[in-house]
Amino acid sequence: MNKVESFQNKLIEFSDKFDRLAVRYDHTVNNSSELENLIDEYSKFVTNRSNHEAWDLLGHYDSNDILQLVVDLRRKSAFCVAIMEKYRALKLHEGNAEITDYFKNIESCIEEEFGSFQLSSDSKVLLIGSGAFPMTPILIAKRTRAEVVGLDIDDEAIELGRSVVEKLGSGLKIRLEKRLVEKLEFTTEATHIIFSSTVENKYDILDQLYSLTNEHVVVAVRYGEQLKSLFNFPLKEVNAQKWKLVEQVTRPDHLFDIALYKKA
Ligand SMILES: C[S@@+](CC[C@H](N)C(=O)[O-])C[C@H]1O[C@@H](n2cnc3c(N)ncnc32)[C@H](O)[C@@H]1O
Repeated sequence: MNKVESFQNKLIEFSDKFDRLAVRYDHTVNNSSELENLIDEYSKFVTNRSNHEAWDLLGHYDSNDILQLVVDLRRKSAFCVAIMEKYRALKLHEGNAEITDYFKNIESCIEEEFGSFQLSSDSKVLLIGSGAFPMTPILIAKRTRAEVVGLDIDDEAIELGRSVVEKLGSGLKIRLEKRLVEKLEFTTEATHIIFSSTVENKYDILDQLYSLTNEHVVVAVRYGEQLKSLFNFPLKEVNAQKWKLVEQVTRPDHLFDIALYKKA
């Protein structure tokens, strides 16, 4: 078997495992460890430089099956990461605050989120895709005392997220809502907006945000290209009349990179 074939087989194996473990989520921590191990393994795989060559070679195969495999993996891994955040939230309730390699990697990304557009205690931060374990709101609010609002489309993520904030972020200005950006007053006040990397329609929402936000807003879109696009929705072109890419924060060893936009 050549290098590309074994790489492709590894992707198929990941895809099958994501399918198998996603359906085992039963709103308890019963099946957490297998999924946590898989996501830790996948995190290492997508940041492993020695996989770059096989990824590049794979790109030369103009095959619909391979394109579909990549699209499926991106969606399946996003779905499983959302479940893993639920496991972490449920474990916190049980008094177990262990932290996996995936979460360590994500938390170290948050430090540099806004590049030269730093946050202060006066900032108003909107996070789209806050998840069941809202580490971004908690870390930002703790470090800067800024006000943070997190949005999610998943009821269970909001419910678990609120209980995590109550436990780890009490006294901080954090609010989690199941609300669309256009239905939220805070959207117009936001000084900084962050898109979670695993929000598939982030560029559609960014386009929509143009008319809903103030002129000074800075938007951080988390993304992953090439090998990292197996675990992140990649960059897209923006309407140049609306948004301008002003800075990119790229870190090869981190799970996602960050593109910063301001109004054109
Ligand atoms: C798992 S979390 C955060 C994951 C990771 N920390 C990151 O940066 O991508 C991603 C959350 O985004 C939510 N989500 C997906 N699409 C969304 C959308 N259009 N609006 C709001 N939340 C969304 C999911 O329900 C999920 O809870």
